[in-house]
Amino acid sequence: MSMIFGRALVLGALLALAGAAGVAAQEQTMATPEAIAALPDRPGKASIVQFCSNCHQPDIVLGLKRDAPAWRELVDQMIARGAIVDEAKYEEIITYLAQAG
Ligand code: HEC
Repeated sequence: MSMIFGRALVLGALLALAGAAGVAAQEQTMATPEAIAALPDRPGKASIVQFCSNCHQPDIVLGLKRDAPAWRELVDQMIARGAIVDEAKYEEIITYLAQAG
């Protein structure tokens, strides 16, 4: 009886740990070192790596020549698809993207 109770406690603790790890994992980037290195170093790069790497590599933005309004439209599409972009970093991201190409 106490064995079963003990196992339930361990299982509960493991599940709690897994949940906490899941939250932490979302805050880490999935970007490869190669993709991070490919992005020019400018203000906003860290935000691109942080917010634009969960579904594809962040260097997907390279080679696309667009102006700021077009990038806003694209970033809004990404947000509609589930990207979580810190509002305080939004304009920094747009400025970075408008300089890329
Ligand atoms: C929730 C997942 C997700 C996140 C986070 C995300 N994207 Fe995307 N992105 C996608 C998907 C899915 C596609 C492929 C869309 C398609 O097939 O048209 C894509 C495609 C792209 C493309 C290629 C578009 C083209 O016309 O070739 C660019 C550029 C892009 N994303 C930029 C970004 C930027 C910048 C961010 C961060 C602000 C970002 N993405 C974050 C899901 C995401």
